[in-house]
Amino acid sequence: RDEVSLWPGARTAVLRYFGQVLHGRTDALKPSPGYLGPTLELRRGERVRIEFRNGLAEPSIIHWHGMLVPESADGHPRFAVGPGGEYVYEFTVRNPAGTYLYHPHPHGRTGSQVYRGLAGLLIVREDRERAYGLPAAEHELSLAIQDRRVDDNQLVFKRTMMDDMNGVLGDTVLVNGMPDAAFRVTPRPWRLRLANVSNARVYKLAWSDGRPLSVIGTGNGLLSAGEGIQTRPYVVLGPFERVELLEDFGARRPGAEIALVSRDFAGVGMMDMMGGGADGMMDGMMGRGMGGMMGRGMGGMMGPGQGEELNLARFAVAAAARSPGETSRLPPAEAPPQGRHELRTRLAFRHMQGFLNGRRFEMAAVAGDERLPLGKGTVWTFVNDGGMMAMPHPMHVHGVRFRILERSGGAPADLGEGLVDAGFKDTVLIFPGETVRLLVAPTEPGLFMYHCHNLEHEDGGMMRNCLFG
Ligand code: C2O
Ligand code: CU
Ligand code: CU
Repeated sequence: RDEVSLWPGARTAVLRYFGQVLHGRTDALKPSPGYLGPTLELRRGERVRIEFRNGLAEPSIIHWHGMLVPESADGHPRFAVGPGGEYVYEFTVRNPAGTYLYHPHPHGRTGSQVYRGLAGLLIVREDRERAYGLPAAEHELSLAIQDRRVDDNQLVFKRTMMDDMNGVLGDTVLVNGMPDAAFRVTPRPWRLRLANVSNARVYKLAWSDGRPLSVIGTGNGLLSAGEGIQTRPYVVLGPFERVELLEDFGARRPGAEIALVSRDFAGVGMMDMMGGGADGMMDGMMGRGMGGMMGRGMGGMMGPGQGEELNLARFAVAAAARSPGETSRLPPAEAPPQGRHELRTRLAFRHMQGFLNGRRFEMAAVAGDERLPLGKGTVWTFVNDGGMMAMPHPMHVHGVRFRILERSGGAPADLGEGLVDAGFKDTVLIFPGETVRLLVAPTEPGLFMYHCHNLEHEDGGMMRNCLFG
């Protein structure tokens, strides 16, 4: 259990899209551009058929994270197919233009399969994006950000007791599968799509030259014209959250080199939250001095802990004449749903396990407080109790896009300014002691799910079904 070897030989996640093979690859368990799956580009309104073939020696199924798909196309773990099995997805692309993800969802194996590269970006495009004057595809960059443990140019997947609690953190940042990622950009506005595809790491994204970030989208589509471009000194991105930026590299000196970094923040991992207490407790459990080593200073053993400064990618601005680019606008606001059903879910972590209203994952069960009416608004309140095992939980709901109505109780002081709660989202980071109220209005009937998207928490059972309709 401590050390799971990477699977030998062929690993094939064959995705077929309109009958055309996009992805049939052999193993690439080293940092490489082929580490992640291909980026799928879909158009809003089109009908999609994807054939998934499981070439693994264990069960799997693909989930389209953030997408509004019918129950049968959601990739719920109950649809997992065994080795050699196939699953056919058919759906119409209903989401607005934005940056989404796909990843496996077999119960208990999501973390290890994502770690091994079975994930990818899914970009939805719309014709009207041109009308908004957003930079065209040739002035767009997508960055899938992941932290991985790399030893001798090989990915190493180790899972310890600490990882089960905090989630797996890596010592090397990969962007699109590559360490030390570098991009060349022309001095003009670019659209940047940033996706956190890490198992558990939270990033505090910032530019090395101190310029603010201009956010145009927060996960499930673009912000609206009314909300406008949101400027932040840094942006906090939890696991499986995405953010889109409109970044004017023309505002930099031609020839400049700047870096996208993750700034240091006071730890939000459990051991960090417990501070000296944790060290003392761990010392008691594991012998003197061990506690401190396992906390924030996990560094020595496993690489940088949660909240340590990291370099993500470098951008070299071409020494060319500055081009002003387009004048970009954002789409009109969508009408809010009517009705106010109320639900409340308490998040807790104890005895090394996560709980949702005191319950853990069951394949088919759904409780009364996990039912949402169709076609009308539900205010879903999530309460992260905090307490001894205080950790942030990136909570995610399948099959819907939600709004954040309210966040109270206090995010950590050095992260609060970087939260962008405008627009639509499908994943929201909820800090210890926080209460977050979401407005959700499901449109597809059926059994979906909600869970913590720290993949080790999810695999550990901090996941439940929810029933729409
Ligand atoms: Cu990103 Cu249940 O998934
Ligand atoms: Cu999802
Ligand atoms: Cu969690």
